[in-house]
Amino acid sequence: MEEGKDPIIVTRTNQTRVLPQRLLQLLVLFLVLCFTFSVVSIYMIRFFGINNNSLTNVRPSLLTCNREEVKSLQQSIKPPSNLMHEMSDEELLWRASFVPRVKKFPFERVPKVAFMFLTKGPLPLAPLWERFFKGHEGRYSIYVHSLPSFQPEFASTSVFYKRQIPSKVSEWGKMSMCDAERRLMANALLDMSNEWFVLLSESCIPLYNFTTIYNHISQSKYSFIGAFDDPGPFGRGRYNDHMLPEVNITEWRKGSQWFEINRKLALYIVEDNKFYPKFAEFCKPACYVDEHYFPTMLTIKAPNLLANRSITWVDWSRGGAHPASFGGSDITEEFMKKIFEGHKCSYNGQPSSICFLFARKFSPSALQPLFLLAPKFLGF
Ligand SMILES: *[C@@H]1O[C@H](CO)[C@@H](O)[C@H](O)[C@H]1NC(C)=O
Ligand SMILES: *[C@@H]1O[C@H](CO)[C@@H](O)[C@H](O)[C@H]1NC(C)=O
Ligand SMILES: *[C@@H]1O[C@H](CO)[C@@H](O)[C@H](O)[C@H]1NC(C)=O
Repeated sequence: MEEGKDPIIVTRTNQTRVLPQRLLQLLVLFLVLCFTFSVVSIYMIRFFGINNNSLTNVRPSLLTCNREEVKSLQQSIKPPSNLMHEMSDEELLWRASFVPRVKKFPFERVPKVAFMFLTKGPLPLAPLWERFFKGHEGRYSIYVHSLPSFQPEFASTSVFYKRQIPSKVSEWGKMSMCDAERRLMANALLDMSNEWFVLLSESCIPLYNFTTIYNHISQSKYSFIGAFDDPGPFGRGRYNDHMLPEVNITEWRKGSQWFEINRKLALYIVEDNKFYPKFAEFCKPACYVDEHYFPTMLTIKAPNLLANRSITWVDWSRGGAHPASFGGSDITEEFMKKIFEGHKCSYNGQPSSICFLFARKFSPSALQPLFLLAPKFLGF
């Protein structure tokens, strides 16, 4: 029995010795063949060039396999045709934070102004905006964030048609409001041609024609966001020491949420994960986070790019916690004149009489008189 075992063991070990040698030989032969083939093909290409016909013959068959294949640069950076994507906020913010490292565009880029409407539902002043945008296609884009339950009914000819973005419920003074604003900016950032970002509400109106507003925004050295250091209880009084070391009280700022910012600042807001948690945790009512988060963060990140004032006119003269709201009976020629009077501000370091490009708050009943007075007072 024992003697019978030995020969089996011997033949087995012989086989295992023989096999790797053959495999190794085959492998070496294969590698040599591969190498000569690639060397030969490289030289063939060098000497005879790429045969255009054979390439074009090959490509279509590849394309039919993969319909998503990108044919040109323009196509690869095209903004999504359907704004109602299925990305989560986390995915969206990450996607929106992509930045080209090469600053010179290899094509002609017409920079656009993104008009971002943060609304509850309908846009009662839409007809006025439609007239404002008419004839300026290619220099603006529109994004609307309304309550998720709201079903818009814009005609297919409207500038607001299919411009709604995926939304969530947002509450004034809470982080969900900043989330909605970040969502608007992130969606607008997906379009490479958007250079300036204006946040508006359903009660806002433009105060000049499109050309004037476009030029004013595009020629400004600074972004228009309200950011001031208020030493009182409603300013520094809302600061919380727990925000250190990210936010020092000397950097704490306050400002209205209705801003105009450029692409660089919008990217700071979208990519931020340093200040966000601090504000989410330590700025809760009576600290109204939508009045502090962006002004403070941008003051820390890019103080030299801020005009520190808002570009949206609002009337606080009536006092109280809310600014004045204007209805149909308020809109007279006198009132329209008053909006433009008595403002002094600095624009690119020079005194300017154009201090506000937009105004709030106008109720739906203001539409008719505004529509009639717009050609004379608003220039469109
Ligand atoms: C826009 O308004 C300005 C004055 O604010 C005026 O000079 C200009 O002609 C207007 N442009 C158009 C296209 O109406
Ligand atoms: C806040 O900043 C000021 C200077 O701007 C500095 O003197 C102070 O020490 C800082 N506070 C803290 C707690 O770091
Ligand atoms: C805005 O305020 C910051 C400091 O908070 C300052 O550095 C900047 O110069 C101000 N901008 C203008 C245009 O004055």
